[in-house]
Amino acid sequence: MYYSDEVIDQVRSSNEIVSVISTYVKLKRQGANYFGLCPFHSERSPSFSVSPAKQIFYCFGCGTGGSVIAFVMQYENYTFPEAVRFLAQRAGISLPEEDSSRERMEERNLKSRILEINKEAAVFYYALLKSPAGTDAMNYLTGRGLDDETIRHFGLGFAGRYSNQLVMHLRQKGYTDDLILASGLGVGDERHGLQDKFWNRVMFPIMDVQGKVIAFGGRVMGDAKPKYLNSPETPVFNKSRTLYGLNYARKARTRTLIICEGYMDVIAMHKAGFTNAVATLGTSLTSQHGMMIKRYADDIVLSYDSDEAGTKAALRAISILQETDLPVRILDLSPYKDPDEFIKALGTEAFQERIDQARGSFFFELENIEKGYDLKDPQSKTAFFKAVAERIALFEEDLERDNYIEAAAGMYHVSSQSLKKMVGNVLMKGVRTPAVSAARDREREKAGKTTSLEESERLLLTWLCEYPAFYGSLKEFVTPQDFEEGFYREAAEMLYQQLEEGKPEPVRIIDRFEDPAQQSAAAALFNTPHADVDERELKKSMRETISRIMENSLKKTVAESARDVGALQRMIEMKKKLGRVSDLDIRL
Ligand code: CTP
Ligand code: MN
Repeated sequence: MYYSDEVIDQVRSSNEIVSVISTYVKLKRQGANYFGLCPFHSERSPSFSVSPAKQIFYCFGCGTGGSVIAFVMQYENYTFPEAVRFLAQRAGISLPEEDSSRERMEERNLKSRILEINKEAAVFYYALLKSPAGTDAMNYLTGRGLDDETIRHFGLGFAGRYSNQLVMHLRQKGYTDDLILASGLGVGDERHGLQDKFWNRVMFPIMDVQGKVIAFGGRVMGDAKPKYLNSPETPVFNKSRTLYGLNYARKARTRTLIICEGYMDVIAMHKAGFTNAVATLGTSLTSQHGMMIKRYADDIVLSYDSDEAGTKAALRAISILQETDLPVRILDLSPYKDPDEFIKALGTEAFQERIDQARGSFFFELENIEKGYDLKDPQSKTAFFKAVAERIALFEEDLERDNYIEAAAGMYHVSSQSLKKMVGNVLMKGVRTPAVSAARDREREKAGKTTSLEESERLLLTWLCEYPAFYGSLKEFVTPQDFEEGFYREAAEMLYQQLEEGKPEPVRIIDRFEDPAQQSAAAALFNTPHADVDERELKKSMRETISRIMENSLKKTVAESARDVGALQRMIEMKKKLGRVSDLDIRL
């Protein structure tokens, strides 16, 4: 580890986890913990938890977890030391001089070197487009209505017809093959050598909010497949956190953001003066996008293709954007497919009109629900209103629900009283808390993978963090040696040590690992889902869990005792203790 433990402790304790994570994720208190929608996978009901007591976050849905440092690493795509520096700065702590060993320097520099090589490539592609070799590409772009100014503004380019032009150029400039590979600009292996990733395509540099080139998209000029090819994910490029055009849209004078699906749509809109347009990059909108958008927008207009795939994508985006609390409206561009085609056909003013007319996403959702029912059939109609009521019940505020009840009742000419009653019924039924149910689903999913022994061990570790006094009763019966060898035993040893010295600090154990996957695995140890039961029930399961772990350990000792006298002695001791567990008076 490259900052000392003391420094890391200081950085961690000056960055309270709830306050840091709330700047990225909307959190709501629920009992001892906070819950929100997980930024690391896409979900509708919150299974992402943050514990102020343990200073750990953990998602019961996808299993991502760790300390505040781990969160920043994963969210901002930082290395461990980068995350430490970021949080130190946030808390106004000055850090000691950094270790400047060669390896560290290289690791730290990889990102900036990828950014540099990307810039070089963008310049190369642009020059090629403007050269005689780029005539066809230029004709293609002008044929699609782009002028020189727009091409320059977006830095469009051309990846040449010969398959190794860029790689050769980059080598000549002194870039190593390793870096060319790491940037995703080259592909290949030792046998075939390094090849250009993109060739004979018009190129769209993808920029981050600061305007740095982090990746490329390339489009074929004809009908070949795939139509678009994008850079792979690299240390500087993460699709679910990138919006094409945001570097310009954030400077637009309006706080309305138009979200669409394609590069060409963004370019066409910007050219027509709608510089507030951005696009996802061939992926669906994620909650990370949602949080980014929230920083730059007060309301959102979605412009997705009007086909079935587009409608599905729009519905998904609506549900993700719900969490931002921003109003979402849906653009209807019929009979045209996308903004690019619409603007070409009907022009800027007509486009502005459609934006002004765009209706709230709720009505779009209603229309979509309606497709599944026959409103002329009384039975189907009732089922439809039930579905509508279920949708309305998802709104959190009373007032919001009332408003939507009024609107929907008006739209379908039914009494708002009866719709309100239906919504009330849904609300009465739906009282299972999201966190517990997500945990339950996940456990069910994993059933068979996690043995009950592993789960018991994790439960003990979790309880030790939540009820430190439990340690007093436990330590006589279960020692770290009783845990399965490896990860679990090491974690138990560290936690026991902490409890001997005072209080459990699971984050310090988690932060011994620099790899996010290991951090998550460690966080899982201290976040084993368990039912919220009364104290008597809890103590009963504690005793059962203790017995299970002791029995397992005993079984192994029995096997050893055939050869080892010491083990025989231990076995006898263990059997005696095991007999006392059922009467053990646990103090919490
Ligand atoms: N996309 C992709 N890979 C593909 C097809 C599409 O990554 N094989 C992404 C691109 O970001 C593209 C967006 O999805 O811009 C929308 O795709 P589509 O609607 O097919 O393309 P258009 O934007 O309409 O592209 P064009 O107008 O150039 O045909
Ligand atoms: Mn298009």
